[in-house]
Amino acid sequence: MLDRSNELTAWDRDHFFHPSTHMGTHARGESPTRVMAGGEGVTVWDVDGKKSIDAFAGLYCVNVGYGRQKIADAIAAQATNLAYYHAYVGHGTDASITLSKMIIDRAPEGMSRVYFGLSGSDANETNIKLIWYYNNVLGRPEKKKIISRWRGYHGSGVMTGSLTGLELFHNAFDLPRAPVLHTEAPYYFRRADRSMSEEQFSQFCADQLEEMILAEGPDTVAAFIGEPILGTGGIVPPPAGYWQKIQAVLSKYDVLLVADEVVTGFGRLGTMFGSDHYGIKPDLITIAKGLTSAYAPLSGVIVSDKVWQVLVAGSDKLGSLGHGWTYSAHPICAAAGVANLELIDELDLVRNAGETGAYFRDELNKAVGGHKNVGEVRGDGMLAAIEFVADRDDRVFFDPALKIGPQVATALAASGVIGRAMPQGDILGFAPPLCLTREEADIVVAKTAEAVDTVFAAL
Ligand SMILES: Cc1ncc(COP(=O)(O)O)c(C=O)c1O
Repeated sequence: MLDRSNELTAWDRDHFFHPSTHMGTHARGESPTRVMAGGEGVTVWDVDGKKSIDAFAGLYCVNVGYGRQKIADAIAAQATNLAYYHAYVGHGTDASITLSKMIIDRAPEGMSRVYFGLSGSDANETNIKLIWYYNNVLGRPEKKKIISRWRGYHGSGVMTGSLTGLELFHNAFDLPRAPVLHTEAPYYFRRADRSMSEEQFSQFCADQLEEMILAEGPDTVAAFIGEPILGTGGIVPPPAGYWQKIQAVLSKYDVLLVADEVVTGFGRLGTMFGSDHYGIKPDLITIAKGLTSAYAPLSGVIVSDKVWQVLVAGSDKLGSLGHGWTYSAHPICAAAGVANLELIDELDLVRNAGETGAYFRDELNKAVGGHKNVGEVRGDGMLAAIEFVADRDDRVFFDPALKIGPQVATALAASGVIGRAMPQGDILGFAPPLCLTREEADIVVAKTAEAVDTVFAAL
């Protein structure tokens, strides 16, 4: 076969505007281009034939693993029979209707309808509009503010970039926009007062939230949005009692709760939804990634009965809902979703995520948890992270300019394992496909320990 890798690299530098990339270093050829070519199970390879275990499942999305013929066949069959029809004014397809039913069957109690989008970001944009519409229908035009958390990740659109609580996503974009506010991150390891127990820190977070609601005026606060476990902000499980205490504050002031389950939906924590895992009772749930395992772009908002009843009253009063995308409920994506959810059940991947995920984290902790520059090994289900520190006893963090997290991720990648340097802090994240085996986990752990040793030996 003709080797086109040089040509592709040149075209890439000259024409491809990559998301989340340093534009200057990339265009000048100072950072690598990797042209991906294929995948099977947890392994991917590039055009040069270099294989890697993808221990981040793309962007924590290829949950069933690569190369699943069943999903490819479902996509091909749908494209052949009916590649597209819209979902406006009551239209649907077998795939989109079946998928809605499958999602509600799997969703936490009290959920009623699914609105489909294409990305986690656009689903969260939909959430914000539905929340504002809801309060307008209820005659509460002032109740519009949305509270998010520092280190939360909810997308990178105008509203969703504002909801995201990471500086990189705000810088020079004039974000966050009103009416978005950020409250304390539930990040126990980085708590300011180290004498606090987890429960005390959870209470502190709930108190901070309550103070914010009271300072703003409860009649102006519409909703709180959070990921069951912080993802892109550092893969940080909630401290003990966090969600119970937060929900008590929200219900006291009649504030809606949006569970952003873009990462946790469909099995990543060893339960179908993260809300079930942590005892969260959301009014709206955001889904994306694991819904199709990224075989096709599809997201959704799962709407509770409580919100749905108000939306129905709204359209009886105001007419049709003026919201929708051309590609909402795209049949090809919906067909991928149906096949993907079937596959998750057939392969028992939710159970494997819980069991093999726990094994993976335990082994990771045994291998690097005692290292003098490892502050914490943490995670839940098939999610894990290592946080690096300059001094573990005094919890001193590294100067970000040293780029310790990226250095470890780069050393790991050189050895054939893909982890992710999380964007804020020196944190190496893992979110392998849910089909990871113990043998594969062992390889990831061994290579990680080597990469950690290599980087810190060179410091
Ligand atoms: C929790 C969460 N919400 C929303 C998003 C945004 O999804 P997308 O990148 O598909 O817009 C992400 C992406 O990583 C996410 O992790």
